[in-house]
Amino acid sequence: MSAIPHEILNRVRDCKIVPVITLSDVDHALPLADALMAGGVDFLEVTLRTSSALACIEKMASSGVDAMVGAGTITRPEDVTAAKNAGARFLVSPGATPALIPELQAFDGPVFPGVASVSEAMIMRDHGFTVQKFFPAEPAGGPGFLKSIAGPMPDIRFIPTGGISQANAPGYLELENVIAVGGSWIVPNALIAEKDWAGITKLCLDARQRLESVA
Ligand code: 3PG
Repeated sequence: MSAIPHEILNRVRDCKIVPVITLSDVDHALPLADALMAGGVDFLEVTLRTSSALACIEKMASSGVDAMVGAGTITRPEDVTAAKNAGARFLVSPGATPALIPELQAFDGPVFPGVASVSEAMIMRDHGFTVQKFFPAEPAGGPGFLKSIAGPMPDIRFIPTGGISQANAPGYLELENVIAVGGSWIVPNALIAEKDWAGITKLCLDARQRLESVA
């Protein structure tokens, strides 16, 4: 899908934070989704970085939770098929390759491919992807980079991810070409391991409260 429907873009914009989730225990999938939803975060990226990631996506997607559940860390063409079969409704990649691009284009849902340079952003725009993940955001130039390219590329929107925290998120969200930020800071592995679901909800609520006034 090249053009992303407005209602989905608005959902990401309203959420402001896309949690980058890494799960190694399928039993954590639903309590975590509930904790994030309770914190007002309902656009959930589950990274394909563990052997149970696909099962976690499947569990969340089939549970009937009112969250948009997608797959992140899509790096190979076969990841697209696996994510789709698990029920992922959107895809995020850290970058793109000639083999991956047609698979991403064929996916029936929003796709946010990763870019880290002006040329990559232009190439992905030419392939139809106008909302892109800027990754790794902090090492690749931070808000200053995105601000600089807003003029020459006014038709591209970004979800910066990589090194984002509650402290630096406002600097991104105030930019007109940023629709949301991504990050793992609201889903820390330590809290997941401790099953501290209330702690994760609190992190989300605190972040959303702090970011509410931005943009
Ligand atoms: C990602 O995959 O998007 C990043 O690893 C998340 O980066 P962070 O852990 O710095 O938020």
